[in-house]
Amino acid sequence: MEIIHTIAALKTLLAPLKATSKIALVPTMGALHKGHLSLIKLAQQETDIVICSIFVNPTQFTDPKDLEKYPRPLAHDIQLLEEVGCFAVFMPTVKEMYPSFPVPEDWHIDLGEAEFVLEGEFRKGHYQGVTQIVKKLFDAVGPDTAFFGQKDFQQVLMIKNMVSHFSLPIEIVSCPIVREDDGLAMSSRNIHLSAQDRKNALVLSRSLQYVKDHYGKESLGSLIDHARRQINGIPGVELDYFTIADPNTLQPIKDQDHPHPVALVAAKVGETRLIDNMLM
Ligand code: PAF
Repeated sequence: MEIIHTIAALKTLLAPLKATSKIALVPTMGALHKGHLSLIKLAQQETDIVICSIFVNPTQFTDPKDLEKYPRPLAHDIQLLEEVGCFAVFMPTVKEMYPSFPVPEDWHIDLGEAEFVLEGEFRKGHYQGVTQIVKKLFDAVGPDTAFFGQKDFQQVLMIKNMVSHFSLPIEIVSCPIVREDDGLAMSSRNIHLSAQDRKNALVLSRSLQYVKDHYGKESLGSLIDHARRQINGIPGVELDYFTIADPNTLQPIKDQDHPHPVALVAAKVGETRLIDNMLM
């Protein structure tokens, strides 16, 4: 596997391949788990060359402590990528991606009203940071397709909106959530959970599953009440939101005839903030 640190080296590597190969990008912040590997495997099935990027992007963190404690097991990540047969990993420095860092670059684009709800309300400016780095990665790689996990449902929507803002010829693929056997959605943040937190965190997928199983059988109000009570009933879990929303606006749906609604949840479990979602 090629290990690349600069945009120039990446462009040199990919330039001769572009005319004949379909190129995929799987952007990550590292601390890779089976969820990331499933994105790479899907990308390998659908394209010719898969580039994985590992970059802990400072502009999308609203809490400096969160940035500092973000896991960075690079050697293990590289080993996993080798094992899965990834073509190349792009691991730039902060200076490579943001030459004037820590001076902020001028970046603000219209991502639509959905930027400001749910995660956008709890992590102000987060999606500006996410779309800023994803656009830079797209410019560096020039992929035909990019693969993201559905676990970050709102992130995928924001990236699609960014792609349409710039009319980029890049297909965005949202890949199914990968769960542990007991239902916990895989996340790089799970390693911060204590054994007790890990047990408590199961209430998130359980509440989503309850709502999915009873969707259309109980009123919307009673489904949401049930889920919120279930989560609030677990000591050590602090609910930020539980909603059943339209997948494009992320506004709460008003009736159960709504096409393709999604239930989304976020909560602090111990000291770790987790998100999850399920299509109804
Ligand atoms: O989902 C992530 O890991 C990050 O938000 C992303 C898309 C790699 C951008 O930094």
